[in-house]
Amino acid sequence: MNMDFQNKVAVITGASRGLGKEIAILLAEQKAKLALVSRSENELNKVKEEIGPNAEYFVCDISNSKAVEKTIVEIHQKFGKIDILINNAGIWFEGLAEKHPPEKVKELFDVITLGTIYVTTSVLPILKKQAEGQILNVVSVAGIETPGAEMGPYSPYTAAKYAVTGFTKSLEEELKGTKIKVMGIYPGGMNTPLFKKAGFDYTENENWMMDKKDVAKIILFMLSQPKDVIIDHLVVRKFS
Ligand SMILES: NC(=O)c1ccc[n+]([C@@H]2O[C@H](COP(=O)([O-])OP(=O)(O)OC[C@H]3O[C@@H](n4cnc5c(N)ncnc54)[C@H](OP(=O)(O)O)[C@@H]3O)[C@@H](O)[C@H]2O)c1
Repeated sequence: MNMDFQNKVAVITGASRGLGKEIAILLAEQKAKLALVSRSENELNKVKEEIGPNAEYFVCDISNSKAVEKTIVEIHQKFGKIDILINNAGIWFEGLAEKHPPEKVKELFDVITLGTIYVTTSVLPILKKQAEGQILNVVSVAGIETPGAEMGPYSPYTAAKYAVTGFTKSLEEELKGTKIKVMGIYPGGMNTPLFKKAGFDYTENENWMMDKKDVAKIILFMLSQPKDVIIDHLVVRKFS
């Protein structure tokens, strides 16, 4: 690995389970300091206990902009800096467009799109002051392509993720000339509780799912590049 993660401070949203938890474990192995963010205190506490003293957790609903601002201030006060932001938190819903209740459509956008933007805009002034940093958005293949005839349908989820792709690309341009990297990863299906949590009856071993640990390793690789190299957009798919 090129980047030394020792004493780097990483904020990971959605760190209580799934992909976010795996990223946290890998970064902790590299001696990074971690701010684990999600809504469930119990699950966060378990991850913190698994990782040890280099991790702290912060209970926050990222769809609440005021709560996000407060949480980022707390994280900054606790650690004194933020080097890496991983916008990973997300939720799922699927079905015909007209079967999506308006509250669900709003929730998808509130968490996936607005949550990502709120966390990023709260962290950005800190990164700018430090004049360095990395922002990595966990998007989805659903942020760059529509599901096709075999998968889905999940058009509101796709719409929310496409918006995150737009934000990611546009922010990368906005920050050109600074030392703040903005990256997007676009994974296909992974073996996480995402679908079950949303009430859909998938196992964690469907043949279209990648191992979340493999995707976490790829994220670590993206974050490990030399200062003058960026893997800014990376699509990762199941190969079979
Ligand atoms: N699994 C896949 O097939 C797949 C494929 C492509 C992309 N992705 C993306 O990968 C990311 C990680 O998802 P996952 O698959 O690991 O799912 P997961 O296991 O369900 O994890 C989702 C995480 O997001 C957190 N979260 C949800 N709503 C939140 C909110 N309002 N505020 C703060 N945290 C919130 C959850 O914690 P709490 O419930 O404790 O808040 C949890 O830690 C998501 O952005 C997802 O869209 C997943």
